[in-house]
Amino acid sequence: MEVVMRIGFIGIGGIVDIYRKALAQYQTPVTAVCDINAARVAEVAAAEQCAGYTDYREMLANERLDAVFIAIPPGYHQQQVIDCVKAGCAVFVAKPVGLDPTLVAQTLAAINAAGVINQVGYMARYADIVGKARALIGDRKIVMGLARFMVRMPANHPWWGKRSICGGQIIEQSTHMFDLLRHLMGEVSHVQSFGHQGAADDIADFEDSTIVSLKFANGAIGTVISTSCTEVPEGCGWELTGRDLYLKLTMDLELSGVIDGKPVSYHGEETGYIRQVGEFLTALKTKNQAMIKSSYADAVQSLQLTMAAERSLQNGGQTIRLES
Ligand SMILES: NC(=O)c1ccc[n+]([C@@H]2O[C@H](COP(=O)([O-])OP(=O)(O)OC[C@H]3O[C@@H](n4cnc5c(N)ncnc54)[C@H](O)[C@@H]3O)[C@@H](O)[C@H]2O)c1
Repeated sequence: MEVVMRIGFIGIGGIVDIYRKALAQYQTPVTAVCDINAARVAEVAAAEQCAGYTDYREMLANERLDAVFIAIPPGYHQQQVIDCVKAGCAVFVAKPVGLDPTLVAQTLAAINAAGVINQVGYMARYADIVGKARALIGDRKIVMGLARFMVRMPANHPWWGKRSICGGQIIEQSTHMFDLLRHLMGEVSHVQSFGHQGAADDIADFEDSTIVSLKFANGAIGTVISTSCTEVPEGCGWELTGRDLYLKLTMDLELSGVIDGKPVSYHGEETGYIRQVGEFLTALKTKNQAMIKSSYADAVQSLQLTMAAERSLQNGGQTIRLES
């Protein structure tokens, strides 16, 4: 008989609509939701026909959950993930995993001690185009990786424009670009950043545009470009080059390029948003952490990289060497 997982949520804002849609596709009901916004709790609890809480500790004490999705703004992370894993729950954490390196290290230690299934929502790792690109790359070396995240953000967002809560665009949004470069190219050894501020002070209290240069441990090089002050056609994606290899991944579904003179043209069906949840559920049911492509420990590495890029930004473009 199929075991029905008991799933809970801490934070039920915008991104959770996608996680809920994915759970529905995998015929997995939501058992309980928690948010500090009582009106949102009432709305989602009614829609899911599940229990609703404004105190996550009460939810953990009452509900015997198998897994909890934690999707709160990065600067609001406190003990939520730690308390979930201490209660024996698997955790699916929205990126980025936090802003406080000490708390993040304590959280990772708690996850390791509890031995629970853990995943972070780096959905691009689960996209069709990324799987296809990895298969095409095979053993070849990617020599250069370029990535860009160029999206016009709204001026009235409740937390996105505040560096103290979101961490800045590099840490909050462009994290996907850094994370996928790590996934495809390996670890970064050096990072250097420059930014521009002043074109979008009504949108955010941090840089509106940034450029980050990367040197990888294997000698490869890369750049991540970000802006929040204008919409750009095909504004998000990656370009990879190697000997007789060029691949362009356009978020979320298009892959093109040339390898050994042969054109590559591929249209994906799955962006990764739905599949990441499916793989989390499978890992949970089969108790198989090894199948997770974006563990908490791995996400901590992406956070460390983006925090180093931020540090360089705040220090006039100083080159930062990352610990290996
Ligand atoms: N593609 C992606 O992977 C993706 C996309 C969007 C957002 N995100 C991430 O998801 C997280 C949430 O973003 P969002 O867009 O859903 O934000 P949101 O503002 O729409 O929702 C956040 C929710 O968290 C609630 N909340 C805040 N503090 C809380 C607390 N201490 N306990 C319980 N609930 C709390 C808020 O009331 C709100 O309902 C962020 O980390 C963000 O970076 C990921």
